[in-house]
Amino acid sequence: LSNSTSYIIHPQVALVGPDGVGKTSLMTLFERGDSPSQTHTSQKAHSVELNASTDSSSKYSYKNHEDTTGTHTKFLLIDTPGHGKLRNVAMERLNRCERLKAIVFMVDAAALGEPESLAPTASYLYDILLFLQKRVSDKSNNKKNNTPVPVLIAANKVDLFTALPSTLVKTNLEAELSRIRSSRSKGLLDSGVGTDDVGSEEQDAWLGEYGSEKFSFKQMQEFEIDVDVLPGNVTGDGPGAEKWWWWIAQRI
Ligand code: GTP
Ligand code: MG
Repeated sequence: LSNSTSYIIHPQVALVGPDGVGKTSLMTLFERGDSPSQTHTSQKAHSVELNASTDSSSKYSYKNHEDTTGTHTKFLLIDTPGHGKLRNVAMERLNRCERLKAIVFMVDAAALGEPESLAPTASYLYDILLFLQKRVSDKSNNKKNNTPVPVLIAANKVDLFTALPSTLVKTNLEAELSRIRSSRSKGLLDSGVGTDDVGSEEQDAWLGEYGSEKFSFKQMQEFEIDVDVLPGNVTGDGPGAEKWWWWIAQRI
């Protein structure tokens, strides 16, 4: 209500995902128009201010810094460290977001065909999706915090020949998330307790449609959480990063 002391919190978009997938590279590309020749493992969360537009003549491009046509919305892109030991840094940063509008979960499409990459990637994604689901279903939290946050799974590095097509990125992740869900809920459904008798606490810890055998991203719509998968690349030849930019521009 007080105008004099109000300050503006820009819409926030968080970049999360395992280490080495290209998050910092993407942020640098969006900020500077070119990707860095070298990056280092991120140890801290780092934000940059960017401008996106849905009505300017260059709305599909992140290279719109000079564009004066249309209206531009300032937003904060937050890069987070992906290393498993720094997961708490990323989660803590997400928790602190007051105007979180979207999450870009980046994956390495060229590595995701390997179980060593798929398993930890899906495990992190599981945590993120459950975090968002709980945020929506937590009614005690009556603040702005329970606005559903959409997720973009950015399938990066499609310039590499080993890259999986995005349809496979999606189905592989869904299959692995199903596996993780059944192992994390072991004892819950096996205990002989019928679905109707299960306490709300247990239901709350279940990702997606309660009691379903297979997980699919569509199940997140029950919580109004949209999940999209789009391929792209930051370096090399390919579709580039514009589709991701446009996805973000429409959600801030
Ligand atoms: P952490 O900070 O450890 O979480 O990693 P990160 O996700 O920030 O990854 P980073 O941006 O540091 O990139 C890791 C490596 O992937 C770098 O060597 C990048 O050059 C490379 N890389 C990023 N994007 C692409 C891409 O689209 N294609 C290819 N081939 N390599 C990429
Ligand atoms: Mg980084």
